[in-house]
Amino acid sequence: MKYKTVKEKVFHKPKKQSIAVKENISGITVLPSVKSKTIELQLFNNVQFIYELHLAKMELESFGLDVKITNGLRKVLSACDYEMVETLQHHTAYFEKINGEISDYFYIQQKNQTRSVNQYLTHWFYPYKGKFHPQMIRALLNILQIKQGETVLDPFIGSGTTALESMLLGINCIGYDISSVCVLVSKSKTESINVVDEIIALRDSVLFGEKKVEKLGVGKVRNFYKVAELIAHSDAARRRKNFQSAFNENIVKMINSLKDFQEIKEKLNLQFGEITLEKKDSRHLPLEDNNIDGIITSPPYSIALNYVENDAHSLEALGYDLKKVKEDFIGVRGNGYEKFELYEKDMQKAYSEMHRVLKPGKYCAIVIGNVTYQGGEVNTTQNVIEYCQSIGFTLVENIEKIIYGLYNIMQKEHILIFQKNREIK
Ligand SMILES: C[S@@+](CC[C@H](N)C(=O)[O-])C[C@H]1O[C@@H](n2cnc3c(N)ncnc32)[C@H](O)[C@@H]1O
Repeated sequence: MKYKTVKEKVFHKPKKQSIAVKENISGITVLPSVKSKTIELQLFNNVQFIYELHLAKMELESFGLDVKITNGLRKVLSACDYEMVETLQHHTAYFEKINGEISDYFYIQQKNQTRSVNQYLTHWFYPYKGKFHPQMIRALLNILQIKQGETVLDPFIGSGTTALESMLLGINCIGYDISSVCVLVSKSKTESINVVDEIIALRDSVLFGEKKVEKLGVGKVRNFYKVAELIAHSDAARRRKNFQSAFNENIVKMINSLKDFQEIKEKLNLQFGEITLEKKDSRHLPLEDNNIDGIITSPPYSIALNYVENDAHSLEALGYDLKKVKEDFIGVRGNGYEKFELYEKDMQKAYSEMHRVLKPGKYCAIVIGNVTYQGGEVNTTQNVIEYCQSIGFTLVENIEKIIYGLYNIMQKEHILIFQKNREIK
């Protein structure tokens, strides 16, 4: 199969919105639209890093806008028409105000039952280590130009960040993970909103111990209460909290988050995207070729985090044998250097599958970092770039993202954006 090599940077060249004089199709000079004007966009105060400013700029460019950064980097000027102002209000991730009007994302971020800025709505359900920053995912959905009604894939869905963010933008999401805990948690974050009344109706009998979670059968209501239990297991294991009081507190707080979710849906008239979440191995995606409109994912970072050990208490609570589970997890199998070799082979299969299912010309964002092993750096990022290029992806962006204090064994991450090459007909 032959692929065209895209030499020049092709990423995002939509028609620029501009106030310059244009020619119409019959060649007659027309005046700029009276509606076109320069507008001011104000960044959220929580935008602190260089990579975020870069993504903010890319986000606007993906809507076809020219961008000028002003006012000590906190304000952005752009020329556009009224329709575009409205689109930006509904979609942007990094701007609090567009032309003086508050963005949808500002209201969404306010609906937060926790003290952490990012953990609004149901994002906080379950303390999963190594989850995405939701704001970055919202921006990437825009940057990759995935439209309402189209489908994004995250083959390593983890705690469900991509699923929840897609849902809010009306984008469909398919999320897979090998971990049953991840699938359950992701489902509870995105599906509980459909059964709020049923959840509330059962609250008191669950809180007072009259109804056991095991007796709730299968389905969304049971998933909600099961996750409340898993969070309490984690609180007991990691924070030495009393299981029962943690469980009760979580249920109250989780229900408040669902009420927030309902309120924001109504206030902003959100049309949710459809979410499909399944326990699957990303080395064998159950999807047809050339079928997906975009991919956003962060695979295991080589051997940086042991996802089985991390969620051991929850996996055990769900009745899993940790030794068995380990066999299918990427980055966990093997010993010593063999671990890296197995990781590389497994990930090559996963990247090939991602390439196979993506539509030609569409984009795939991979967030990945290097790890240090016995004092030396393992260049996972470069390996990803080289392998992906060898199978027909073109690297169109490589954004460095410095991370602090998450794990002392890793300092830098990269957001790699690839485009699947179009076949030469
Ligand atoms: C970096 S985490 C993803 C975190 C996610 N982006 C989030 O926001 O929560 C990587 C995920 O890969 C999953 N994983 C490991 N091996 C896998 C496999 N063979 N197939 C699918 N998922 C796998 C792990 O369970 C883990 O949840």
